[in-house]
Amino acid sequence: MTVQIDHALEEIRRFRPSPEFAAQSVADPALYEAANADRLGFWADQARELLTWHKPFTRTLDWSNPPFARWFDDGELNVAVNCLDRHVAAGLGDRVAIHFEGEPGDSRDITYAELTDEVKRAANVLEGLGVGTGDRVAIYLPMIPEAVVAMLAVARIGAIHSVVFGGFSSDSLASRIDDAEAKLVITADGGYRKGRVFPLKPTVDEAIGKSAGSVENVLVVQRTGNDITLEPGRDEWWHDTVGAAASEHEATAFEAEHPLFILYTSGTTGKPKGVVHSSGGYLTQVAFTHKYVFDLHPETDVYWCTADVGWVTGHSYVVYGPLANGATQVLYEGTPDTPHPGRWWEIVEKYKVSILYTAPTAIRSFMKLGRQIPHEFNLRSLRLLGSVGEPINPEAWIWYRHVIGGGSIPVVDTWWQTETGAIMISALPGITDLKPGSAQVPIPGISIDILSDDGTPVEGEGGGLLVVSEPWPSMLRGIWGDPERFKETYWEKFGDKYFAGDGARRDEDGDIWLLGRVDDVMNVSGHRLSTAEIESSLVAHPWTAEAAVVGASDETTGQAVVAFVILKASQADVASADVAAASEELRKHVATQIGAIARPRQVFIVNELPKTRSGKIMRRLLRDLAEGRQIGDTTTLADTSIMQIISEQVK
Ligand code: WTA
Repeated sequence: MTVQIDHALEEIRRFRPSPEFAAQSVADPALYEAANADRLGFWADQARELLTWHKPFTRTLDWSNPPFARWFDDGELNVAVNCLDRHVAAGLGDRVAIHFEGEPGDSRDITYAELTDEVKRAANVLEGLGVGTGDRVAIYLPMIPEAVVAMLAVARIGAIHSVVFGGFSSDSLASRIDDAEAKLVITADGGYRKGRVFPLKPTVDEAIGKSAGSVENVLVVQRTGNDITLEPGRDEWWHDTVGAAASEHEATAFEAEHPLFILYTSGTTGKPKGVVHSSGGYLTQVAFTHKYVFDLHPETDVYWCTADVGWVTGHSYVVYGPLANGATQVLYEGTPDTPHPGRWWEIVEKYKVSILYTAPTAIRSFMKLGRQIPHEFNLRSLRLLGSVGEPINPEAWIWYRHVIGGGSIPVVDTWWQTETGAIMISALPGITDLKPGSAQVPIPGISIDILSDDGTPVEGEGGGLLVVSEPWPSMLRGIWGDPERFKETYWEKFGDKYFAGDGARRDEDGDIWLLGRVDDVMNVSGHRLSTAEIESSLVAHPWTAEAAVVGASDETTGQAVVAFVILKASQADVASADVAAASEELRKHVATQIGAIARPRQVFIVNELPKTRSGKIMRRLLRDLAEGRQIGDTTTLADTSIMQIISEQVK
C-alpha cells in the first residue's frame, strides 16, 4: 500500500464538473442539505420515492437493540416486483433490461417484459420443487441472464439466495452449501472463459458429494453443451422445467427486514462469513446510489458494470440497483481479452455504453497494454466512469478519464464493502469537484468517521480507522448463523459504530483517502481473500509443516498472495531436490482447494518463519521481504537473525 499512499500525498489535481454535465445531472446539492437536516427523514423519503411498497412503512429505523438494525420494518414489499413487474405496469415492458453478450459472440436482448415472464416461470418452478419462504438456494452460474433470473426468482418467493462465484472450487462450494443448508442448487453445464468451456456441473456434483446432504434438487442451465450427468430424481434441466412452467405468478409481499440474500466473504479467520442482507433497506440504498452516483437517466443510458454476480458488486450494481431503477444494461459473460484484447471496447462501441463501472485492476491491465487498443473503437458514447474494489491510484484514474473517457467525463471512485451492501463514499458527479485517488465524501445520509485505535477522532495526515458512525439502510443484518461473530468482528471495537477494517485519512478539504485494509484481509484484483484461509489450505497439504501468507503490493492486481512455507522434515529431500516443483505443487493445491483467484503468486520454501517470543508470526516483516523493501524493525523477534536467513533462502 505504501506506493499508493505516497502518490496520494502528492496528488493535487482537481476536476470541476463541466457545466453541461452539471446542468443535466440528476443529483442536486439539496440532497446533502436534506440528509444533513434530517437523516432518517431523508432515507424514508428515498425509500418511498424509489420503491413501491405493498404496505407502506411508518417506522424508519429501530436501533433499540444495536448492532441489530431494523429499517422500515412495518412496511412490506416484494423485491422482484420492484425490479420487474412495476416497470412493465408503468408501460416500460419493451425497454431492454439486458443486452447479453456471450464470450463466443452470441448475443441476445431481453426486455423488462421478457425478464419478468422468465422470473415468474422460474418462481413457479422453485415453488414446485418445494422451495419456500426463508429456504436457501445456492446459485453457481456463469455471467448469463439466467443468473439474474435465478436471483430474482428466489427473491420473488421470499427464499434466500447464496450466490457462489463460479471460480470457486468444490470445497468452497460445499462449505457454503453446508453453512446455509441450501436446499436447491442452480447451476449450468458450464460457461465460456478465455475461449474455452469451463465446466460447472461436475463441480456441483463433487460439492454435493462432500456436503452434509441438505441439497434436494439441482437445476441445470444448458449453456455450453459439455457432457454432464443428471442424477435422476435430483437434477433437472432449467429449460425443461422453466420452459414448461406457467408465466403467471402472483407475488406476495414480505416484511422489509425479510432476508434477501447471504453472500460469503473472506474475513480474518479461515472460515468465510455469510453476510446477510435484508430487503427494504438494501433495495433503498442500492437504488439510491445507483441513480445518483451514476447519474442514471434510464430512458437513454446504457449502463455496464463489469463485475460478476458472484461478488457483491454484481448483486448491488448488476442485479438489484439497475433493475430497481429500470435501467438498460450490458451483461458480458467472458474475460476482457477474449478473443482479442479490445473486447470490452468493442462491447462499449456495439451497445453505445454510456456508464461504465469497473475495477482499478482492470484499468491497470489495460494501461499496460497501451492506449492504441481502446483507441481502435468508438468510445464517445461514454459519459461517466466508475471505479470500485480497491484504491485507484491517481495515474490509473487519469488514464481512465483520458484514454477511455476522452478527457472530460467524470470518474467516480466508490468505496463500500460486501457488508455495507451499497456505495457509502463517492463523489456525486455534477456536484463534487473530483480528486483522483480519493473516494472523497460520504454519500448523503451516511456518516463516516476516522478514529484512532482508542476511538478518538483523527484529523489530517496520519490517518486512522474508518468507521460508519450511524446505521444505514443497506447495512448487513448479521452473519448467517453466528450473531456473536457479527458483534465481535464489526462492533466490539467501537461500541455502536461499525468498524470497516480499512485505514483512511481525511484531507484539509474533508475528502477521504482509503489506505487499504488494516486486518489480515488481502485485496487481489478487487477480490477479498483472507490470509488465514490460504494458510489453512497450505497447511492442509501433506508436505506442509507451517505456512504464512501476506498480501504484497502488485502493479496490476493491487495486492498479490505471497506464501512462505516450511516443509515437514520428511519432505526435506523433495524440497532440496526441486524447490521450484515443490512450490508449484503448493500453488496448484491452493487453487484447487479454494479457487484460482486464491492461487499464490509465489510460494517460498523456507526453513524458518519470523516469530515473536510469544510465537506470533510477524507478517509485516514477510511483507517487507515480498515487496523487496528494507526489512523493518526486528527487535521483537525471538531470534533477530531469522530474517537474514529467510532473505537468503528467498533469493
Ligand atoms: C476495498 C467490494 C479503496 C476496501 C465492493 C474494502 C476499496 C474492501 C474501494 C471491500 C475503493 C472497495 N477504494 N478501497 N473505492 N472499494 N475497497 O467486500 O478495502 O469485496 O474494505 O466489496 O475492498 O471488498 P468487498
